Amino acid sequence: MLLLIPMKPVGIDDIAIYVPPLYIDFKDFAEARKIDPSKLEFGIGIKKMAIVDADQDPACMAANACLRLMQKNDLKPSDIGRLYVATESGLDESKAMNSYVIGMLEQIYGQGSFEHCGGIECKFACVSGSYALYDNTNWIRCDEHNGKYAIVVVSDVAKYDIGSSGEYTQGAGAVAMLIKEEPRLLAFDQKVTSTVISNEHDFYRPFARSTPIVNGHYSNLAYLIYVKKAMLMYKQKAIETGLIKLRQDESIIDHIDLLAMHLPYSKMGKNALAFLLRHEWRNLPKWKQILAKIGMEEPKPPEGMGTIEAILSDKEFMKKDEEFRRRFMETEEYKQVFESKLASSLKASEIIGNLYTGSLYMGFRSEIEYEYRKGKDLAGLRVGFASYGSGCSAMAFSGVIQDRYKEVVSRMDLEREIGERRRISMEEYEQLHRGLRSVEERIVSKSKEFVLVSIGKRGEGFREYTFHN
Ligand code: COA
Repeated sequence: MLLLIPMKPVGIDDIAIYVPPLYIDFKDFAEARKIDPSKLEFGIGIKKMAIVDADQDPACMAANACLRLMQKNDLKPSDIGRLYVATESGLDESKAMNSYVIGMLEQIYGQGSFEHCGGIECKFACVSGSYALYDNTNWIRCDEHNGKYAIVVVSDVAKYDIGSSGEYTQGAGAVAMLIKEEPRLLAFDQKVTSTVISNEHDFYRPFARSTPIVNGHYSNLAYLIYVKKAMLMYKQKAIETGLIKLRQDESIIDHIDLLAMHLPYSKMGKNALAFLLRHEWRNLPKWKQILAKIGMEEPKPPEGMGTIEAILSDKEFMKKDEEFRRRFMETEEYKQVFESKLASSLKASEIIGNLYTGSLYMGFRSEIEYEYRKGKDLAGLRVGFASYGSGCSAMAFSGVIQDRYKEVVSRMDLEREIGERRRISMEEYEQLHRGLRSVEERIVSKSKEFVLVSIGKRGEGFREYTFHN
């Protein structure tokens, strides 16, 4: 007789972050680049941009986040069966960043202590962390884990050319997540995760370049279009599996209590929410009243306008659409959804900047901390995740906040976890950006963390790290 054992929930048990100690203040940046500071503060939504020091890179940030996660949960290496690193700031064309991270952790836990562990480096621009989470969640769900946990760490340095429009959407940091059965924080919903994939040229970084080739406005529109497609697929699956029952006057967003969206910059989250809501509400009875408040018809792209290029090149349509979006974002209906479901997730982005793979998860972490601080009970709330990676792929999925979430969230304190920060001058920033400082010429000395000590001493390009006590 086949005995059916109900599947235990699997998801994120705890989160630890690492943010480098240097930052650029938006006013210094605006002055140096002769930009209106209001554009950065409100148009992009950035106040402080995290910058890596000369003795830091994505691998040591990842190891620092993992160490914090292990220490605060009293984990031993034998508890961990998989350690996945998702990044788009790869350091090597062949050697996975995981091995450097494991090497650093073994400086603390002992040589060979992680030898039993598996894991690979995952790449797909900013979405790869979501694939890593999904694959590791399923590794546990299908009972291949032998009682062990997975750590997924996302780590990136978002770096653009000096003087480019991407330069004010930089940032850096790592987020490590502990994935296990019966998690305290969030359990992922099953059979609803939805992915789309396409060959786009919105953003890519050919071999040997340290900064990407970016078609900025193209990437914004690609994000909106593909995230919407993934959301539509998610909605269909959520209805088919019975996870969500939609009444005729409801949209999928009514069944998602909190939203976490990929945040290349915080304003993008606001814009993306407007795009999704317009699509979801367009056929609902309430749209008529909203249109009356907006005071204009919703612009429709001309027939046959298939490609993203064609949409962007129709200046008249784009102008009208922008005007419509702005007016829509002024309505009470939009503001109510924004404030209650998304606003708290933007707080971290405003003071850190872009984390590429980590942006979505830093946003999620920010959201639960600041919603909890409002005194809201988060148990049982459904969080919808909208992940986007240029190139491109989008992923929509969801999870439910678990009853024991307070054990984790009540200890969260973003400012404390970021730690002491140093406001650097634009001159120092440009030296770091151009790689003009050696590791010995770091701007601040670090304690209780891993740092890069040399590149190439043991073999061309090989990196060595140490733990500073
Ligand atoms: N005060 C307030 N807001 C202002 C302003 C001012 N003085 N001047 C401009 N703005 C607003 C614009 O209206 C626009 O707002 P919107 O989002 O509501 O349309 C916003 O600032 C951005 O300005 P804009 O001129 O449209 O874009 P940009 O040339 O500065 O480029 C990006 C912005 C995001 C395209 C660019 O930074 C980039 O390429 N970043 C890297 C790629 C990226 O992050 N892509 C995201 C998808 S993954």
